[in-house]
Amino acid sequence: MSISNEDKELYGPLANLIGIWEGDKGLDIAPEKTGEEKSPYFETITIEGLGTATNASEQTLAVLAYKQVVSRISTGDVFHHQTGYWYWDKSTQDVLYSLLIPRAVAVLARGKAQSKGSAQLINVRASAPDKNYGILESTFMAAKASTRNFEMDVTVDGNSLQYTMKTGLYIYGRDFMHTDINTLSRKR
Ligand code: HEM
Repeated sequence: MSISNEDKELYGPLANLIGIWEGDKGLDIAPEKTGEEKSPYFETITIEGLGTATNASEQTLAVLAYKQVVSRISTGDVFHHQTGYWYWDKSTQDVLYSLLIPRAVAVLARGKAQSKGSAQLINVRASAPDKNYGILESTFMAAKASTRNFEMDVTVDGNSLQYTMKTGLYIYGRDFMHTDINTLSRKR
């Protein structure tokens, strides 16, 4: 798929994210009561342009909606589902990224994009104490499996998308770095 000049103008460094992406080389490292569990996975990430949202008659955000559906290679079952938005604020050059997961956890992360050759490198972060770019979670999760910070690096280059997500948890009485990495190809 080629990205139109209108999309490039509107979505800036996020334009090349638009598409349907698939990858089967994912690796999840998740917490267990003692130790960790490593799960190879495959997934589809669907990203579509929604146009702009205007806030308080003065801020204009260009917005993409995404859905990420992740399945364990060993069973074929979906074991992670994530949805949210990418936002480009041209006036501040900020990239925002929101996520909801069906564990009653929500994150709003902020960061920047930079070009490197033909690639776009995007980094976004959130941290629990931050009132704006932080984490919301249910009382159960706050007590038992709390998300303390989140960071994602994405590199998108032509029809290839790579990401690393690092989710800092406090669970089972210890800190645990829950990580997910994958490389995907654009299918459409
Ligand atoms: C590709 C992405 C991801 C995959 C495949 C994945 C998968 C998993 C798995 C397999 C567990 C262990 C569940 C269990 O013990 O039964 C887990 C736990 C958890 N994940 Fe993720 N996860 C992903 C991303 C995230 C993200 C982005 C967040 C939050 C920002 C998150 C938050 C949590 C939390 C809070 C737990 C602790 C719940 C528990 O183990 O009891 N995960 N995840």
